Amino acid sequence: MAFPTQRLRRTRGTAGLRGIVRETELSPNDFIYPIFVAAGEDVKNPIASMPGIFQLSINHAVEEAKKAHSLGIPGVLLFGIPDEKDEAASGAYDPEGVVQLAIRAIKDAVPELLVVADVCLCEYTSHGHCGIVDKERGVVLNDASLELLAQTAASQAEAGADIIAPSDMMDGRVAALRSELDREGFSETPIMAYSAKYASAFYGPFREAADSAPQFGDRRGYQMDPANAREALREVALDVEEGADIVMVKPALPYLDVIRRVRDATNLPVAAYNVSGEYSMLKAAVQNGWLDEERAVLETLTGIKRAGADIIISYHAPDAARWLAR
Ligand code: PBG
Repeated sequence: MAFPTQRLRRTRGTAGLRGIVRETELSPNDFIYPIFVAAGEDVKNPIASMPGIFQLSINHAVEEAKKAHSLGIPGVLLFGIPDEKDEAASGAYDPEGVVQLAIRAIKDAVPELLVVADVCLCEYTSHGHCGIVDKERGVVLNDASLELLAQTAASQAEAGADIIAPSDMMDGRVAALRSELDREGFSETPIMAYSAKYASAFYGPFREAADSAPQFGDRRGYQMDPANAREALREVALDVEEGADIVMVKPALPYLDVIRRVRDATNLPVAAYNVSGEYSMLKAAVQNGWLDEERAVLETLTGIKRAGADIIISYHAPDAARWLAR
């Protein structure tokens, strides 16, 4: 007589058996690779807290984009590090801004690679907040920020961005971007909204990379409380109503339940952002010899996909794609 457990074991005996019953198959095609584009010539600054990741001038960003494409990664996500920051975030919507120039250069060099443009003001404001600030009151001005965010999105679409990804979390930003894009003739350009974006400690290394830590206060006024999951569904529903084409949960690892709930609540594609701090902690353990990098990274990314993500934004993307190709 067979024990019931034998039925489970019967499909685990060989790689072939495991293969045909596997529920989740990770592929390079699932990934989007973030790139930090810096102003200047021939810049390649390592980011101390993110081993293997650099601030890259446009020539190097193009090389990195080509590499991603050759590994079968369908898209890159661009963040800009401008020369100068100011209170109006002028670098964000400058038609000759660092991201706008990088979009043109990458689309010229690798037209088939999708270029996703992050829309936020925090990398361009002198105070590091994601919107325009009323200094006397020390608050972020939602509606004034919307206008500049919409201008930013239009300038990125004009430069050739394939997807516009607002990460600022101002109220009404998806609707504001959609109507500006439509008005400017970009009604075909999709919006990937950072819909459930938590106020997370795991953005720390990114803020080093983008030099965008807020100079006063924090982002809790516009980012979500890690304790809330139902609120994420409300954020997603609002973004869908406003016209989002893809919705995102960010970060990924502490919010796998949220990814699953969003997946079950909408039929739109769901993206998950495996953020800088998630990358850093894994890399740190690997550098100490405490974890096997390939296994830990592939297990992590498989877990994010199994939770329900269709698209995984990850700094591990090129390494993972290389491992998956073997
Ligand atoms: C900008 C933005 C942030 C990240 C993506 N877009 C930082 C923040 O909100 O402070 C974080 C990405 C990462 O940590 O990898 N609003």
